[in-house]
Amino acid sequence: MDAIDDLHFERLYRQDPDPWRVASAWYERRKRAVLLATLARERYGHVFEAGCGGGDMTLALARRCDQICAVDLAPSALRRVQAKLRADPVAATVRILALKLPRQWPPVPAGGFDLIVVSELAYYLDDAACALFLARLHASLGAGGELVACHWRAAFHDRQQPTDGLHEAIGALPGLRRLAHHHEEDFRLDLWRNPS
Ligand SMILES: C[S@@+](CC[C@H](N)C(=O)[O-])C[C@H]1O[C@@H](n2cnc3c(N)ncnc32)[C@H](O)[C@@H]1O
Repeated sequence: MDAIDDLHFERLYRQDPDPWRVASAWYERRKRAVLLATLARERYGHVFEAGCGGGDMTLALARRCDQICAVDLAPSALRRVQAKLRADPVAATVRILALKLPRQWPPVPAGGFDLIVVSELAYYLDDAACALFLARLHASLGAGGELVACHWRAAFHDRQQPTDGLHEAIGALPGLRRLAHHHEEDFRLDLWRNPS
Protein backbone atom coordinates (compact mmCIF):
# COMPACT_ATOMS: atom_id res chain seq x y z
CA MET A 1 0.00 0.00 0.00
CA ASP A 2 1.94 3.02 -1.29
CA ALA A 3 0.96 6.62 -0.56
CA ILE A 4 -1.02 8.14 -3.43
CA ASP A 5 0.56 11.25 -4.89
CA ASP A 6 -1.48 14.33 -5.85
CA LEU A 7 -1.23 13.76 -9.61
CA HIS A 8 -2.10 10.06 -9.53
CA PHE A 9 -5.75 10.46 -10.54
CA GLU A 10 -5.07 13.21 -13.07
CA ARG A 11 -2.56 10.89 -14.77
CA LEU A 12 -5.15 8.11 -14.89
CA TYR A 13 -7.72 10.39 -16.55
CA ARG A 14 -5.15 11.62 -19.07
CA GLN A 15 -4.38 8.04 -20.07
CA ASP A 16 -8.04 7.10 -20.30
CA PRO A 17 -10.98 9.50 -19.91
CA ASP A 18 -13.02 6.84 -18.06
CA PRO A 19 -10.44 4.68 -16.25
CA TRP A 20 -13.00 2.61 -14.31
CA ARG A 21 -15.58 2.36 -17.14
CA VAL A 22 -18.01 4.21 -14.86
CA ALA A 23 -20.19 5.28 -17.78
CA SER A 24 -20.37 1.95 -19.57
CA ALA A 25 -19.63 -1.11 -17.37
CA TRP A 26 -22.71 -3.01 -16.22
CA TYR A 27 -21.21 -3.30 -12.72
CA GLU A 28 -20.92 0.50 -12.49
CA ARG A 29 -24.31 1.25 -14.04
CA ARG A 30 -26.06 -1.30 -11.83
CA LYS A 31 -24.28 -0.07 -8.68
CA ARG A 32 -25.23 3.52 -9.52
CA ALA A 33 -28.86 2.46 -9.97
CA VAL A 34 -28.77 0.65 -6.60
CA LEU A 35 -27.38 3.76 -4.89
CA LEU A 36 -29.93 6.07 -6.50
CA ALA A 37 -32.78 3.70 -5.62
CA THR A 38 -31.58 3.48 -2.01
CA LEU A 39 -31.83 7.22 -1.35
CA ALA A 40 -34.83 7.66 0.93
CA ARG A 41 -36.21 10.86 -0.55
CA GLU A 42 -37.31 11.62 -4.08
CA ARG A 43 -35.78 15.11 -3.95
CA TYR A 44 -33.13 16.91 -1.91
CA GLY A 45 -32.13 20.52 -1.42
CA HIS A 46 -28.34 20.80 -1.29
CA VAL A 47 -26.22 17.81 -2.27
CA PHE A 48 -22.46 17.31 -1.96
CA GLU A 49 -20.85 14.62 -4.09
CA ALA A 50 -17.30 13.83 -2.97
CA GLY A 51 -15.00 12.52 -5.70
CA CYS A 52 -17.46 12.92 -8.57
CA GLY A 53 -15.11 11.60 -11.28
CA GLY A 54 -16.52 12.05 -14.77
CA GLY A 55 -19.95 13.07 -13.47
CA ASP A 56 -22.18 10.09 -14.28
CA MET A 57 -23.63 10.10 -10.77
CA THR A 58 -23.60 13.91 -10.70
CA LEU A 59 -26.02 14.18 -13.59
CA ALA A 60 -28.40 11.65 -12.07
CA LEU A 61 -28.28 13.38 -8.67
CA ALA A 62 -28.77 16.79 -10.26
CA ARG A 63 -32.18 15.64 -11.51
CA ARG A 64 -33.21 14.98 -7.89
CA CYS A 65 -32.00 18.10 -6.09
CA ASP A 66 -32.05 21.89 -6.11
CA GLN A 67 -28.26 22.36 -5.98
CA ILE A 68 -25.34 19.97 -6.20
CA CYS A 69 -21.70 20.62 -5.41
CA ALA A 70 -19.53 18.07 -7.23
CA VAL A 71 -15.92 17.91 -6.08
CA ASP A 72 -12.90 16.09 -7.50
CA LEU A 73 -9.17 16.72 -7.43
CA ALA A 74 -8.56 15.73 -11.07
CA PRO A 75 -9.09 18.64 -13.49
CA SER A 76 -9.51 16.26 -16.45
CA ALA A 77 -12.40 14.52 -14.71
CA LEU A 78 -14.05 17.86 -14.01
CA ARG A 79 -13.71 18.91 -17.64
CA ARG A 80 -15.59 15.73 -18.50
CA VAL A 81 -18.37 16.71 -16.10
CA GLN A 82 -18.55 20.17 -17.69
CA ALA A 83 -18.76 18.63 -21.17
CA LYS A 84 -21.60 16.34 -20.10
CA LEU A 85 -23.48 19.27 -18.59
CA ARG A 86 -23.22 21.43 -21.68
CA ALA A 87 -26.72 22.08 -22.99
CA ASP A 88 -28.25 20.09 -20.13
CA PRO A 89 -31.05 21.97 -18.36
CA VAL A 90 -29.70 20.97 -14.92
CA ALA A 91 -26.33 22.65 -15.59
CA ALA A 92 -27.26 25.80 -13.67
CA THR A 93 -27.79 23.76 -10.51
CA VAL A 94 -24.37 22.07 -10.60
CA ARG A 95 -21.33 23.65 -9.00
CA ILE A 96 -18.05 21.94 -9.89
CA LEU A 97 -15.02 22.43 -7.66
CA ALA A 98 -11.45 21.18 -7.97
CA LEU A 99 -10.48 20.36 -4.38
CA LYS A 100 -8.32 17.81 -2.66
CA LEU A 101 -10.52 16.46 0.10
CA PRO A 102 -10.54 16.57 3.05
CA ARG A 103 -8.04 19.37 3.76
CA GLN A 104 -9.77 21.41 1.08
CA TRP A 105 -13.53 21.44 1.51
CA PRO A 106 -16.49 22.99 -0.35
CA PRO A 107 -18.52 25.81 1.21
CA VAL A 108 -21.24 24.30 3.37
CA PRO A 109 -24.72 25.82 2.94
CA ALA A 110 -26.40 27.35 5.98
CA GLY A 111 -28.05 24.40 7.71
CA GLY A 112 -25.67 21.90 6.11
CA PHE A 113 -26.07 19.55 3.14
CA ASP A 114 -29.28 17.53 2.79
CA LEU A 115 -27.42 14.66 1.13
CA ILE A 116 -23.75 13.71 0.92
CA VAL A 117 -22.64 11.03 -1.53
CA VAL A 118 -19.32 9.20 -1.06
CA SER A 119 -18.93 6.65 -3.82
CA GLU A 120 -15.63 4.81 -4.42
CA LEU A 121 -13.56 7.53 -2.79
CA ALA A 122 -12.81 7.17 0.90
CA TYR A 123 -10.68 4.01 0.60
CA TYR A 124 -8.03 6.13 -1.12
CA LEU A 125 -7.51 8.27 2.01
CA ASP A 126 -4.74 7.49 4.48
CA ASP A 127 -5.59 7.18 8.18
CA ALA A 128 -5.15 10.88 9.04
CA ALA A 129 -7.00 12.09 5.94
CA CYS A 130 -9.77 9.55 6.49
CA ALA A 131 -10.29 10.65 10.10
CA LEU A 132 -10.48 14.30 9.02
CA PHE A 133 -12.76 13.39 6.10
CA LEU A 134 -15.23 11.66 8.41
CA ALA A 135 -15.19 14.54 10.89
CA ARG A 136 -15.83 17.06 8.12
CA LEU A 137 -18.59 14.94 6.58
CA HIS A 138 -20.28 14.80 9.94
CA ALA A 139 -19.92 18.54 10.51
CA SER A 140 -21.30 19.30 7.02
CA LEU A 141 -24.45 17.17 7.19
CA GLY A 142 -27.60 19.11 8.01
CA ALA A 143 -30.23 18.09 10.54
CA GLY A 144 -32.20 15.23 8.99
CA GLY A 145 -29.62 15.03 6.20
CA GLU A 146 -28.61 11.73 4.60
CA LEU A 147 -25.16 10.33 3.99
CA VAL A 148 -24.65 7.49 1.55
CA ALA A 149 -21.38 5.60 1.12
CA CYS A 150 -20.66 2.95 -1.49
CA HIS A 151 -17.33 1.15 -1.93
CA TRP A 152 -15.90 -1.81 -3.80
CA ARG A 153 -14.85 -4.66 -1.49
CA ALA A 154 -11.98 -6.36 -3.36
CA ALA A 155 -8.27 -5.81 -2.71
CA PHE A 156 -6.51 -3.37 -5.05
CA HIS A 157 -3.19 -1.58 -5.12
CA ASP A 158 -4.29 1.94 -4.16
CA ARG A 159 -6.51 0.90 -1.26
CA GLN A 160 -5.62 2.68 2.00
CA GLN A 161 -8.74 1.72 3.99
CA PRO A 162 -10.77 -1.51 4.18
CA THR A 163 -14.33 -1.03 2.97
CA ASP A 164 -15.96 -2.66 5.99
CA GLY A 165 -13.83 -0.71 8.50
CA LEU A 166 -14.56 2.50 6.66
CA HIS A 167 -18.33 1.98 6.69
CA GLU A 168 -18.25 0.92 10.35
CA ALA A 169 -16.35 4.14 11.17
CA ILE A 170 -18.92 6.26 9.32
CA GLY A 171 -21.72 4.41 11.10
CA ALA A 172 -20.10 5.18 14.46
CA LEU A 173 -20.29 8.95 13.89
CA PRO A 174 -22.44 10.43 16.66
CA GLY A 175 -26.17 10.46 16.01
CA LEU A 176 -26.20 8.78 12.59
CA ARG A 177 -28.95 6.19 12.18
CA ARG A 178 -28.59 3.61 9.45
CA LEU A 179 -31.55 3.50 7.09
CA ALA A 180 -30.27 0.94 4.60
CA HIS A 181 -27.46 -1.59 4.26
CA HIS A 182 -26.61 -3.38 1.04
CA HIS A 183 -23.80 -5.92 1.15
CA GLU A 184 -22.82 -8.08 -1.79
CA GLU A 185 -19.66 -9.81 -2.89
CA ASP A 186 -18.37 -6.86 -4.90
CA PHE A 187 -19.51 -3.77 -3.02
CA ARG A 188 -21.05 -2.42 0.15
CA LEU A 189 -23.51 0.45 0.36
CA ASP A 190 -24.92 2.10 3.49
CA LEU A 191 -27.31 5.01 3.96
CA TRP A 192 -27.52 6.93 7.23
CA ARG A 193 -29.61 9.84 8.44
CA ASN A 194 -28.64 12.59 10.84
CA PRO A 195 -31.11 13.36 13.65
CA SER A 196 -33.59 16.13 12.77
C1 LIG B 1 -12.92 5.45 -8.49
S1 LIG B 1 -13.32 7.11 -8.90
C2 LIG B 1 -15.03 7.18 -8.38
C3 LIG B 1 -15.84 8.19 -9.16
C4 LIG B 1 -17.31 8.25 -8.76
N1 LIG B 1 -17.49 8.73 -7.41
C5 LIG B 1 -17.98 6.91 -8.91
O1 LIG B 1 -18.39 6.31 -7.92
O2 LIG B 1 -18.06 6.43 -10.05
C6 LIG B 1 -12.53 8.03 -7.58
C7 LIG B 1 -12.57 9.52 -7.81
O3 LIG B 1 -12.17 10.20 -6.63
C8 LIG B 1 -11.29 11.24 -6.96
N2 LIG B 1 -10.46 11.49 -5.76
C9 LIG B 1 -9.56 10.64 -5.20
N3 LIG B 1 -9.03 11.19 -4.11
C10 LIG B 1 -9.59 12.42 -3.96
C11 LIG B 1 -9.45 13.46 -3.01
N4 LIG B 1 -8.59 13.36 -1.98
N5 LIG B 1 -10.19 14.59 -3.16
C12 LIG B 1 -11.05 14.70 -4.22
N6 LIG B 1 -11.23 13.76 -5.15
C13 LIG B 1 -10.51 12.61 -5.02
C14 LIG B 1 -10.53 10.73 -8.16
O4 LIG B 1 -9.96 11.76 -8.95
C15 LIG B 1 -11.62 9.97 -8.90
O5 LIG B 1 -12.30 10.80 -9.81
